[in-house]
Amino acid sequence: MPIERKVIEAEKIEAQRAICAEIFERVAADGQRPLAMVDTYGCQQNEADSEKLRGYLAEMGYGFTMDEFQADVVVINTCAVREHAEMRVLGNVGALTHAKKARPGQIVAVCGCMVQQAHMADKIKRSYPVVDLVFGPHELWRFPELLRSVMEKHKRVFAIDKDEAVAEGIPLRRDGKVKAWLSIMYGCNNFCTYCIVPYVRGRERSRRPEDVVAEAKALVAAGYKDITLLGQNVNSYGKDLDCGVDFADLIRQINDIPGDFLIRFMTSHPKDATEKLFKTMAECEKCAHHIHLPVQSGSDRILKRMNRHYDRAKYLEEVAVARRYMPDLVITTDIIVGFPDETEEDFAETLSLCEAVRYDAMFTFIYSKRVGTPAATMPDPYTREQKQVHFDQLTELANRISGEKHREYEGKTVRVLVDGETGKEEYNLSSRTNGGRLVHLRGDKSLIGQFIDVRITASNTWALYGEVQE
Ligand code: SAH
Ligand code: SF4
Ligand code: F3S
Repeated sequence: MPIERKVIEAEKIEAQRAICAEIFERVAADGQRPLAMVDTYGCQQNEADSEKLRGYLAEMGYGFTMDEFQADVVVINTCAVREHAEMRVLGNVGALTHAKKARPGQIVAVCGCMVQQAHMADKIKRSYPVVDLVFGPHELWRFPELLRSVMEKHKRVFAIDKDEAVAEGIPLRRDGKVKAWLSIMYGCNNFCTYCIVPYVRGRERSRRPEDVVAEAKALVAAGYKDITLLGQNVNSYGKDLDCGVDFADLIRQINDIPGDFLIRFMTSHPKDATEKLFKTMAECEKCAHHIHLPVQSGSDRILKRMNRHYDRAKYLEEVAVARRYMPDLVITTDIIVGFPDETEEDFAETLSLCEAVRYDAMFTFIYSKRVGTPAATMPDPYTREQKQVHFDQLTELANRISGEKHREYEGKTVRVLVDGETGKEEYNLSSRTNGGRLVHLRGDKSLIGQFIDVRITASNTWALYGEVQE
């Protein structure tokens, strides 16, 4: 059964853009180009949201800076996934007091996942008077209207409605010219017991395939070479639409767009990754042979308590099937260490799973208690210090395997996409292999945006080093 979908009609976005034009008149009136700073925390979804904020701000006439002392508008786009992320945000928001004193009239906005939590919005209301505007992810589409009301009424505005919808037509200002994020869906239905995301981002909402494909076409026409399809669980794309297009079909439709470019995607939930997806990845020549498949734990007991809906055996079987279709598949993962009541035995299972899969890269996190999630009330007899010991052990394993995998590239010639400059003299360019491995190169910057062959000459845990082949 498709869920009922709320769509924010094109006219509503047009009305927001008309407000941008109005603000443009207002801020351009004193003759000097105003500047805005958008500072982003968290995942790629937040990066993609910040591109929308910048899109609106550009239509209002703002230029961009990363110096808060130069900015007339400061927007902090926040993350709530772990306590550490929230502490960093709060520290930086507090520090904005200095910039605001030096720049009277500066407007400070805090948006994103952290402030979608009522207790955090309250905390900002009470303890951070420097903040003029607070809005959650569901209100982003009406940022111009909210900003205008701060400008006009000279009082604080708080908007953290829970109205979940899909908005099309928000202007975007992308950061790079080579790589692009493309959101295909929003929200998450999975409610892993440790995770705050479903509470702050709402339920899964897919964009219509025709809207996604049209955006992909426009990106290819604009010269982008590396397109990453984004969603918290891209494998459940389309389930809410009832339009007969699933994620694998969507990849195929994008693969059919003429041009030389790569399709990437993240994140894939192991419970929904299908053989059809792996087959499609193998058959679509533009689809990168990389999958980010967060396992979270190697222990069946913990996976159950995490509400992940797969067990170790199913996960390992999935990896085996994927590798049968793509022997060169790069597999990366996320792992949580120290989930409530994770024992030595549970952790040993995680270590042995990592040895079995041999991940190309692992993103490891110490469990962080999130208010309102089921895991927050689970008894947990272990101390932070005990968890740190496991974390260090896992990091060591991750580094060893990634170093070994990188060494296997030495002496080989691989095709990479050159994506930018490193700012370093010896290896001045950075690039990525099809599987997403980082390769540092020496070469002319005119190579940026090109697919080239490089011979890998050296490597370490984090990167490969290569020479351009003529
Ligand atoms: N939707 C993605 C991940 C979103 S959050 C997925 O399901 O894979 C990114 C990662 O942060 C998660 O994979 C998880 O490893 C980690 N994470 C989420 N909540 C956490 C918490 N409370 N403490 C520690 N790590 C957490
Ligand atoms: Fe969080 Fe789980 Fe959803 Fe990922 S799938 S965003 S970890 S609830
Ligand atoms: Fe953080 Fe929100 Fe992403 S909580 S990880 S920014 S979805």
